[in-house]
Amino acid sequence: MLQFKLVLLGDSSVGKSSIVNRFVKDSFEDLRESTIGAAFLSQTIKLNDNGKEVIVKFEIWDTAGQERYKSLAPMYYRNANAALVVYDITELDSLNKAKTWVEELKNKVGDDNIVIYLVGNKLDVCEKDSSKRLVSLEGAKEYAKEQGLLFIETSAKTGANIKETFQEIGEKLYDI
Ligand code: GTP
Ligand code: MG
Repeated sequence: MLQFKLVLLGDSSVGKSSIVNRFVKDSFEDLRESTIGAAFLSQTIKLNDNGKEVIVKFEIWDTAGQERYKSLAPMYYRNANAALVVYDITELDSLNKAKTWVEELKNKVGDDNIVIYLVGNKLDVCEKDSSKRLVSLEGAKEYAKEQGLLFIETSAKTGANIKETFQEIGEKLYDI
C-alpha cells in the first residue's frame, strides 16, 4: 500500500479541520473547536491504474491556524508529499494568509518536492448569499495558475468537492 503524507495549512477558522473531518468521517459540526497544536487523521482512497485497483493511504496533519502555533508548522510540512493551503472565500485576509503559506512552502520545501493545492472553502455560504463572497473565483484561480498550484473551491458543510480534492491529490502523487 502506498502512503502519502498530507498537511493542511491556513488561517484559523477557514475550515481545515472541517475539511479533514468531512473527508475522513463524512461529518460536519457547525460549532467546531479551534485546533490546539495539530491533529492527526488517516484515510485510504482507491485509485484506478489502467484497470488495476491501487489503495493509497493518506496520513493527514491538520495544523492549528492560530498565530501562537505558527512555529510548529515546519514539523508538519517537512516531508509532506502534499499541502492543502486553505482560505475562506468570505474572508479576504485569509487569502493573504494562504499566500504567505505558499511562499513559505516554496522557500522551505521547494516547488519540486511538494504538491500544493490552494483550497477556497465555505462555498455553501456564497451559494446562499452571493454578497458574502469576498474572494473572487477568477482572482484566486489566476493566482494559483501563476504560482503553479492546483486550485479548487469547496464546502466542508455540504461536502462539495471534498472527496474530489483528495482523489485528485492521490492521482497526482501516484503519477509522480
Ligand atoms: P483552526 O483549527 O483554528 O485553525 O480552524 P480551522 O481552519 O480548523 O477551522 P474549523 O474547521 O474549526 O472551522 C471553523 C468554523 O467554520 C466552524 O464553526 C465550522 O463549522 C465552520 N466551517 C468550516 N467549513 C465550513 C464550510 O464549508 N461552510 C460553512 N458554512 N461553515 C464552515
Ligand atoms: Mg482546526
